Amino acid sequence: MSSAPDRQLGPDLSIATSIGDAADVLVIGLVSGADGDSPPEPVIGDGLLDDARLAEISASLTAVGASAGAGEVSRIVAPASIGAASILAVGMGARSALDDPDTVRRAAGVAARSLTGVERALTTLSTVDLGAAAEGFFLGAYRFEEFRSDKTRSSKAPLASVSLLAGTGDAPRRDPAAELDRARSIATAVAVARDFVNTPPSHLYPEEFADRARTLGESAGLEVEILDDTALIEQGYGGIVGVGKGSSRLPRLVRLAYRSGASDAKKVALVGKGVTFDTGGISIKPAAGMENMTSDMGGAAAVVATVVLAAQLGVGVDVTATVPMAENMPSSTAQRPGDVLTQYGGITVEVINTDAEGRLILADAIVRACADDPDYLIDTATLTGAQMVALGTRTPGVMGTDDFRDRVAGISRRIGENGWAMPFPEELSADLKSRVADLANVTNHRWGGMLSAGIFLREFVADGVEWAHIDVAGPAFNTGGPWGYTPKGGTGVPVRTMISVIEDIAALG
Ligand code: BES
Ligand code: MN
Ligand code: ZN
Repeated sequence: MSSAPDRQLGPDLSIATSIGDAADVLVIGLVSGADGDSPPEPVIGDGLLDDARLAEISASLTAVGASAGAGEVSRIVAPASIGAASILAVGMGARSALDDPDTVRRAAGVAARSLTGVERALTTLSTVDLGAAAEGFFLGAYRFEEFRSDKTRSSKAPLASVSLLAGTGDAPRRDPAAELDRARSIATAVAVARDFVNTPPSHLYPEEFADRARTLGESAGLEVEILDDTALIEQGYGGIVGVGKGSSRLPRLVRLAYRSGASDAKKVALVGKGVTFDTGGISIKPAAGMENMTSDMGGAAAVVATVVLAAQLGVGVDVTATVPMAENMPSSTAQRPGDVLTQYGGITVEVINTDAEGRLILADAIVRACADDPDYLIDTATLTGAQMVALGTRTPGVMGTDDFRDRVAGISRRIGENGWAMPFPEELSADLKSRVADLANVTNHRWGGMLSAGIFLREFVADGVEWAHIDVAGPAFNTGGPWGYTPKGGTGVPVRTMISVIEDIAALG
């Protein structure tokens, strides 16, 4: 049975009426002055404060040497007429950076992280971009302490509530209350994905993951179907069965479907890698860092959270999620290097390296997803260490059919997840030939490892389907310190990319 705890995933968010509203802390932004000598300038919406108060705040900020450097924070006492006792000023860099909503999102995240123990914040960051500020506060205040006892649980509660001032200048893009609702829904979905990733493999294994996905899906009104190990064998899911058979925790395939109700709606298929722990199998990984392979279901977590979010937002496209879940373990029942398996749909694969398991479970899921004849297919996975070699830990690699790949990468950059389009060099496909089967699961060299994984998956995508593959090996799990609105551990990437692509398809086809 599902034992996922109900918990508050972020602070209460509300719209503020005036900068004089009662609060513990007023959060403002700070951008660098127009030239090198001029002091940093506070970012406070037009007309919210009179000149005398503004001058007083600027003088206090200068007195404490406040910096506009991105992520820097300064705390000053507030002028008497303001409802808050103190002001937190968050550096946002150059004024031109305010054009990028992620500047606002990151500043809000930094503020949320530095305001632990605070009950009520009020902010002007939202006068630049209300939705981005709301998301940033919610995501920055995220915390995961389910597995701590009182011995190490933080004594200070996360920031409890934020009141956001709406912009007064240009007409707001949306009704502020609606924009806040939307931000709350999106940030909640990201937090749901983070919770899945942060839950350790002792507690999140295929059966449990599938149960939790069912619970979430049913409460969102989705159609839910779960294939267990017996059904997977009977129906020919050779990739999922092959990867999963080394573990006593048997594999699952979860299918969640949201139907918009419109008869002419576009169909979007999502597929996410759900390896609840990746030891490498018989091609076992080195011990150092293996604990990070708790994050190898980050793609699945994001896909489950996204289809639930699509239903909550009531998007005008049909969305299905096809989510293979398995634990990759070495044992006497595990698959061997040299084994040949038959993927769902009939393509045979020689398993040269059991640690290239993600593509095996994804191939089955992609073929299954394509059987429903989608217009678009997005798959996402913590697929290759080579993604991090090529792009670092914060930049997802986006591959696929040219136009849709570029569209997904562009949207990903616009919303601050920073996906980057990568090619399929044709010479690599010959390197996936097998001595005995249709395909080998790895090349016989290490060059372009992220790209050859994508080329392997391409073999399973039906003709005519617009496809994007997002490798989030680094971006799904932050092994460094927190930054912006990104905590240590699960990040929830690429939930926001996928929901934005879905909404873009709903708007433009
Ligand atoms: N789950 C890993 C990829 C990974 C590595 C994700 C590091 C996050 C951080 C994947 O299953 C894997 O082991 N890939 C191999 C492929 C290789 C055997 C061709 C890799 O990247 O080394
Ligand atoms: Mn692996
Ligand atoms: Zn893996």
